[in-house]
Amino acid sequence: MIPEPSGRLVYRCLHCAGEHGIEKLLYICPDCGSVLLLVDAQFDRLKDIPGSTWQKIFDYRRMLNLPALNGIYRYHEFIGPSIPLDSVVWLGEGHTPIVEASAYLQGRAGARFFFKNDGQNPSASFKDRGMASALSYINYLLAYGYVDEILAICASTGDTSAAAALYASYLHPRVKSAVLLPHRKVTPQQLSQPLGSGAMVFEIPGVFDDCMKVVEQLSENYNVGLLNSKNAWRILGQESYSYEVAQFFEYDMKNRVIMVPVGNAGNITALMSGFLKFYETGIIDDLPMIIGVQSVHANPVYRYYLEKHPEKRRFEPVHVSPSVAQAAMIGNPVSMPRVIRLADQYDRLAGERKVFVVEVSEQEIMDWHLVANRHGHVSCTHGGECLAGMVAAVRQGLVDDSHSVVLDSTAHALKFSNFQEMYFENRFPAEYEVSPKPELINAPVLVHPADLDAVPESGKPLAGESLDRFVSRVSDEIANRLDLKKV
Ligand code: F0G
Repeated sequence: MIPEPSGRLVYRCLHCAGEHGIEKLLYICPDCGSVLLLVDAQFDRLKDIPGSTWQKIFDYRRMLNLPALNGIYRYHEFIGPSIPLDSVVWLGEGHTPIVEASAYLQGRAGARFFFKNDGQNPSASFKDRGMASALSYINYLLAYGYVDEILAICASTGDTSAAAALYASYLHPRVKSAVLLPHRKVTPQQLSQPLGSGAMVFEIPGVFDDCMKVVEQLSENYNVGLLNSKNAWRILGQESYSYEVAQFFEYDMKNRVIMVPVGNAGNITALMSGFLKFYETGIIDDLPMIIGVQSVHANPVYRYYLEKHPEKRRFEPVHVSPSVAQAAMIGNPVSMPRVIRLADQYDRLAGERKVFVVEVSEQEIMDWHLVANRHGHVSCTHGGECLAGMVAAVRQGLVDDSHSVVLDSTAHALKFSNFQEMYFENRFPAEYEVSPKPELINAPVLVHPADLDAVPESGKPLAGESLDRFVSRVSDEIANRLDLKKV
């Protein structure tokens, strides 16, 4: 029940299939330069335990009060079997709520669905699972003397950097962090996060893809710890999302659909990998459908899968345009080779096509984002992108009445409130291609009756008659605006 280090994790190259030990931090294959995934060379041992026993183990661990097992390492044998529990860094990530939409909203959107609120992670995005994995591994390297200190570095559209800086700061001073951000392409809230965690913050001209090139150059030539999802530990940790969804639905994944926004394609890679592992060990009996969603303004993965014949598909990076799903505004996703490999494996194992990518407009993203939050959700624009993607999937007949859908609100609504403001104030620059719908606009109303000569100010409260007059005039005006009836 309480896991001990087990198995034999190795980096495996997706191109040349070379394997490399985990005593060293690797980001690309030292032999051929391709991306890596972490695999347990002894994974088959996990199949000796019946799936129903694994279910009991995870359900039992859910009841324990052990910090190291409270997060992604509840699934230790699948998440990082080589990591001893005393190296696990847990800051409260994972097991985010899965909230069913109201009957009204489901009716309006045309399918049964839930939001998984990844904004309720410690740095307010889904990135925290992957960071918990990467920093637990770094903590293990430090504790066991494989390295003395680390400068962790990443490029980001704002959420990876917030998560990296937070988790690195927990291991300060042996771990320090630096983040590279595209200048003016992260929100003020996202910028405040690594600054608050004490990271070195560099702003770079251009878009995320340009920052990524710089950080790749740095990680190939200098002694730094790369924390982008190119780092396979990130992917491994993010697999917990699949396990959490499976456990929430009591391991019944029949007719379920999982929708995720796709940017650098780390998340969709992790989702496929996670469900595959649970399926291969008999913990789930069905592979859910997985649908990635991209905006027309950043759609290289969608375009790749437009070609029906797998042998004719060619990956072409795209130039991105401004997107309200700004954190996914990526034209050349680092994990594309992983996606291609895993989607193929996923479909083959399922015996039918189960991985799809749909495309949505910026207008649809923004409208569905606002509609979701008007009905009890705290979805970011990327959650809106998922909901818009689900509506598109219903329209295309991919999703129907037999399905129930889990949408990832990958970050907290508050991180992206500037887009809500731009919508409400009708300030979207033309290149976004978003026109506010009057019925979705909301704005505060200042109540300051013209005939009031005295109103309270901070440090200058009103009293006596002037206070009575103020309270009565303001409440009358509000009652009037709300059309309230006297009791
Ligand atoms: N949603 C949010 C809120 C994100 O921050 C990201 C990626 C995505 C979706 C797309 O996920 O890259 O795994 O396909 N943000 C990265 C960052 C790239 O730097 O914060 P993905």
